[in-house]
Amino acid sequence: LDLEVLEREATKYARVVDHFIMERSSYLPERLTEAGLYLIKAGGKRLRPLITMLVARMLGGGEAEARALPLAAAIEVAHNFTLIHDDIMDQDSMRRGVPTTHVVYGTDWAILAGDYLYSLSYKFVTDSVEYGLSYEQAYKALRILAIAGIKVSRGQAYDMLYEERWDVGVADYLNMVYLKTGSLIEASARLGAVAAGGGSEIEELMGQYGSFLGVAFQIRDDILGVYGDPKKTGKPAFNDIIRGKKTLLILYTLSRLDEDMRREFKGLLKKGVEEAKRASEIIMETGTLKYALDLAKVYASKAKESLGQVRDVADEEAKRLLELLADYVIMRER
Ligand code: IPE
Ligand code: IPE
Ligand code: MG
Ligand code: MG
Repeated sequence: LDLEVLEREATKYARVVDHFIMERSSYLPERLTEAGLYLIKAGGKRLRPLITMLVARMLGGGEAEARALPLAAAIEVAHNFTLIHDDIMDQDSMRRGVPTTHVVYGTDWAILAGDYLYSLSYKFVTDSVEYGLSYEQAYKALRILAIAGIKVSRGQAYDMLYEERWDVGVADYLNMVYLKTGSLIEASARLGAVAAGGGSEIEELMGQYGSFLGVAFQIRDDILGVYGDPKKTGKPAFNDIIRGKKTLLILYTLSRLDEDMRREFKGLLKKGVEEAKRASEIIMETGTLKYALDLAKVYASKAKESLGQVRDVADEEAKRLLELLADYVIMRER
């Protein structure tokens, strides 16, 4: 029942955020707007703006929540920029149940669509001044977004470099996913704290919440990438295995196998769907799924602990929803 409340709230925020985005993103020529908004219109969970809005509300109540809207829109638009470029890098042709932007519009237009959304996200942050943020708060928000962008780039770089390496450990993995995924979710939470006018200590705590949540979220993403239902995830299964990504599942499985099996397992990566299926069976047989779920749980708990350390809570329900979100990310099916 609690998860139903979370879903209802998520839908409510998604509506206002989408409205903000759609109202402020039409520029000529039309094809630019179309290519830029194509993925946003295809759907998505709107998890990051939900976090920004809930953190603002938890710390500063309804007024802070209203001030946070441009920042919530900014982070979702920035997220969509990273997805469009990520699908080019990963050569993925489906997302949110539809063909990816580069498949529909061509890689040239998809790169441009990404550039456009990236720029829009900064423009939206400056729009927050219209919503009552001070220049100092807007400056902080710009810096948070910029730092997250640098971290995502670094994470994506490791993600690609690790495709060619076998000496990647779990610690490398955790650093990589913090950078590529955790950092943007961290930024979502920090932005909410900025909108609420919280000091650096509170911003730090919320940042920790977002980072831990983000790592848990990505571990679940790795699991769904192999065992998820494409009808629910909107993404085809096995892509990570076919690309040779060093996901947590692959790394842990490698550590569980003897030399012969390891050689066989390695031979199944970066091949076709049939080989990937066989690899997924081996992953299952090594107890990797339980290991990954347990680790995701550890990170979800750490997120909740950070949340629990916040002293002045203006809205207890928002806090409860953020706790629930930590449970949700590790059991989500889409
Ligand atoms: C996908 O993010 C990219 C990752 C960081 C795993 P989401 O799973 O939040 O994607 P949407 O926005 O709901 O489509
Ligand atoms: C997610 O990368 C991180 C970013 C998009 C920056 P992945 O490549 O692991 O995520 P999916 O599975 O394509 O959504
Ligand atoms: Mg990808
Ligand atoms: Mg990727």
